[in-house]
Amino acid sequence: MKNGLEDVIAAETQLSDVDGEAGRLIIRGVSLDQLVSTATYESVAALLLDGLTERHVAPAELRPWLGEMRERLFAHVTALDSQLLALPPVDVMRALIARLPDGEDFEAALRLLAAPAVFLPAILRLQAGNDPVAPDGSLSQATDILHMLTGELPSAEQTAALDAYLVTICDHGLNASTFASRVIASTRAGLTSSVLAAISALKGPLHGGAPGPVLDMFDAIGTEGNARGWLGQALDRGERLMGFGHRIYRVRDPRADALKQALRPLVSAGQVDRQRIELAEAVERAALAILKERKPDRPLDVNVEFYTALLLDALGFPRRSFTGVFAIGRTVGWIAHAREQALEGRLIRPRSVYVGPSPKAA
Ligand code: CMC
Repeated sequence: MKNGLEDVIAAETQLSDVDGEAGRLIIRGVSLDQLVSTATYESVAALLLDGLTERHVAPAELRPWLGEMRERLFAHVTALDSQLLALPPVDVMRALIARLPDGEDFEAALRLLAAPAVFLPAILRLQAGNDPVAPDGSLSQATDILHMLTGELPSAEQTAALDAYLVTICDHGLNASTFASRVIASTRAGLTSSVLAAISALKGPLHGGAPGPVLDMFDAIGTEGNARGWLGQALDRGERLMGFGHRIYRVRDPRADALKQALRPLVSAGQVDRQRIELAEAVERAALAILKERKPDRPLDVNVEFYTALLLDALGFPRRSFTGVFAIGRTVGWIAHAREQALEGRLIRPRSVYVGPSPKAA
């Protein structure tokens, strides 16, 4: 048996390929570098969903459909009680999604693509004591998310950066949340159930919960000169360095570079704190050096969450919301995998080896 199912093949997919040795990611036949330089959220969503629902999805059609769906879903954020609002944003978002009907058709998929995009900005505003901002269905999904977050139209650089983020993280092989989505889909429970299971898997700090703690780490380190000492002490305590290491990648996670690149226009436009970027680069250098010394047998490099933290922070998302933003982008991957699994048709039902005590003789 493989601990953590490492290297176990549990599905065939046409959706994405993660090459951990070469540090390459392919989404439906297109390499991440190509995709991130040309795609928008809508075009990558259309690419991933194509052929997996009863409806052909063209990017130009998806934008107004999503816009209309965001407007319809806004009514769901008005009746939030204070007990629910006290939870972390991703948990509130999950609770709101749980109220949506289940289904396996295109309408259900569209609803689930729009729902987290509407719910998260509204939750963040309500938690900060502000009224939610109604979506504007004529905008692109990335523009509207930032508009609902701040109440203002974002700059072209901000929209491009969020689009680059959403495209970069749209799908990534059989990660824990995607596997969860496929398991649920194999029971034919419906796409809402798949997405709920996937969000529950995503929020853990070993998966999509890492970028908030990455910012905490920058704050705790404080200055470039402290990086090596702080990181060494964290490793002495047996802690993992957030934003480093990956089950599949033995080299740098290509998504980290895509996001680093996406940050540049924001830096040039003066929309990022330069000192924080310099500190992050110093932390990255120190962490890579110290991990090489301490874990010589395990190649550990930077992963997607490191630059996610910088990018989402620069776009004005509070750190407690980073996992929720990840969910906005990854939902399309979860849905595409769920549909692929349902179309394949067989229930996922592996076996376990019993290692408990034998029944006592009567
Ligand atoms: N810091 C320090 N040591 C690490 C780290 C890290 N970030 N990651 C792995 N190691 C060590 C680990 O302690 C172990 O050492 P030893 O063999 O001496 O006990 C060795 O590397 C192998 O670790 P593993 O637990 O077998 O690795 P894994 O494949 O199960 O874990 C991981 C992958 C992502 C959970 C892990 O690297 C980690 O905890 N990273 C920090 C959290 C993080 O950044 N998560 C985001 C992942 S990327 C987003 C996504 O795609 O989900």
